[in-house]
Amino acid sequence: MAVKIKTLSGYFHEYQKSIVNPEQFWQQQAEDFFWRKKCDCVLDWDFEEPRIEWFKGGKLNITENIFERQLFTRKNQAAIIWEPNNPEDDGVTLTYTQLFEKVKQFANVLLQNNIKKGDRVALYMPMIPELVIAMLACARIGAIHSIVFAGFSSNALADRIIDAQAKLVIASDGAFRGKKSIPIKSVVDEALKKCDSVEKVIVKKRTGEAIQMKEGRDFWWDEICEGVSTENEAEVMDAEDPLFILYTSGSTDKPKGVVHTTGGYMVYTSYTFRNVFQYSEGDVYFCSADIGWVTGHSYIVYGPLLSGATSLMFEGIPTWPDAGRFWDIVEKHKVNQFYTAPTAIRALMAEGNQFVENKVLKSLKVLGTVGEPINEEAWHWYHDHVGKNRCPIVDTWWQTETGGILISPMAGITPTKPSYATLPLPGIQPIIVDPEGNELKGNSVEGNLCIKFPWPGMTRTLYGDHKRFRQTYFSTYNGYYFTGDGVKRDEDGYYRILGRVDDVINVSGHRMGTAEVENAINEHPRVVESAVVGYPHDIKGQGIFAFAVCNDVDESTSLEGIIQSIKIGVNNIIGPIARPDKILIVSDLPKTRSGKIMRRILRKIASGDYSNFGDTSTLLDPGVVEEIIEKSKL
Ligand code: WTA
Repeated sequence: MAVKIKTLSGYFHEYQKSIVNPEQFWQQQAEDFFWRKKCDCVLDWDFEEPRIEWFKGGKLNITENIFERQLFTRKNQAAIIWEPNNPEDDGVTLTYTQLFEKVKQFANVLLQNNIKKGDRVALYMPMIPELVIAMLACARIGAIHSIVFAGFSSNALADRIIDAQAKLVIASDGAFRGKKSIPIKSVVDEALKKCDSVEKVIVKKRTGEAIQMKEGRDFWWDEICEGVSTENEAEVMDAEDPLFILYTSGSTDKPKGVVHTTGGYMVYTSYTFRNVFQYSEGDVYFCSADIGWVTGHSYIVYGPLLSGATSLMFEGIPTWPDAGRFWDIVEKHKVNQFYTAPTAIRALMAEGNQFVENKVLKSLKVLGTVGEPINEEAWHWYHDHVGKNRCPIVDTWWQTETGGILISPMAGITPTKPSYATLPLPGIQPIIVDPEGNELKGNSVEGNLCIKFPWPGMTRTLYGDHKRFRQTYFSTYNGYYFTGDGVKRDEDGYYRILGRVDDVINVSGHRMGTAEVENAINEHPRVVESAVVGYPHDIKGQGIFAFAVCNDVDESTSLEGIIQSIKIGVNNIIGPIARPDKILIVSDLPKTRSGKIMRRILRKIASGDYSNFGDTSTLLDPGVVEEIIEKSKL
């Protein structure tokens, strides 16, 4: 039986076991689940190739482990509580039985529409229960879901559909976000002009706005489900069959299709959910992420539901109708564990304490954060004003690629330290390396964060590009998985994540590749070239600062006009999350003699630090730097 850790010494004991004999440790965690066939080999791996296989030969279906395995005890327990955008509207609660019926029915809809095991299905939807139903229905029949965050533009959606060669798109007519209603179906229509692989689109009505339905291609969710049986036998999957693809940004312009497989991801998300959040029977757990990101996949849907939890999903935004909305939800549903991003905490903190002070938050037991480093001020505000000094904060460090949390306190067990993700979870072997790849042993060291041993939840490949998988994660430091993050291990052996050391910036907890944004900027007819860097931003953590070289610029040119149209362009090509906060039009970029842009200098200028640019001897033209400094001060 899997163990739930209860004490700090229990943690050290389990951690030790997981390092001495990882196979035995994870086999034990896997025993709780229902396997159609047990595995022949717990772990087979090689980080050089790289090849990572967990529970090889094992057969299962992840939805059987959510439903059939647990229904006996959880029939009438709420699986999903859905809180709508507008607090005046009715929400929806789906028990495990009700959710199961809907998943089986939609699984049959997929089968009837020619979707088979291994086919890719793209989901572009708001935070409504049908998103969860659709993803689990895919898993039920062995189709691979690829969820695209509904804030991405039609271009970005098209890129992802084409890369995965999705056969079906599931969408809604529109989406509610605060007081706004945003289009969904028309974005899909635009994207599909470029995608030959898509045969059908299923549309759930949400906003009721007028949309076009293409005869023979587009179908309404409610109509296509009508009269369809709720009897469905799960497809039997190999432990290593893909469960989903999730695109994330990297240091090149093309997003990467991170692939997660079935058995290991199941064991890992459930194990980490139960231990990190210390979820107890009957608790109500609320993660405010969007299911379009990995946090929603692992810690709204799979981890909680595999653990028999009640998981609350919220359609709206934290600041509407006012900045007390999260706390209203906590009060209304008596939430016990609350998990959000530092950027949301900072935004709410900036609105003032009056929105949290008068709320009844005594149900809260655990608070969590994810997605970016949390600054001490935000940590203390969260701890004092939301947690009323009695709820432990779990600062959880992980990535789309890791599938689940790797470094984090376990709530109420690991002593916390503001802005520290603290200690690795059992099974996780982090190491810190210097730029040459030498391991920095002992405490009080700082360097790049790698993981030297596989864990069940880790990504197995990038969809359709295993070479790039090797190149991105396993070639920087031979034999190690490289995270792209800088880290410090302090005198107590605690880990503090310092942020990305590659060309990825973290804007409001969202990963953005600088090359991706530069490419979008360069599409502008006036732009010759550009360079994008991150800079410290009070609410977003990092803001996007773009330096652009434009043609035909003289005194009479309206720079403001160009800047606005560049922003609109980026909006259309990627989406609002990539829109630069600041754009500076310059006559040249600082380059080395060999033509490489010196981003180090631009980062300093973007953060308003003009003091010490380090070694500038390789600069082709120092005058360029002076000009940029002058302009940035204006
Ligand atoms: C950053 C989100 C500091 C980090 C789950 C990582 C964090 C990237 C933390 C992954 C944290 C995530 N403290 N930084 N607790 N959690 N990050 O793929 O830079 O969207 O590499 O996954 O977010 O972002 P992703």
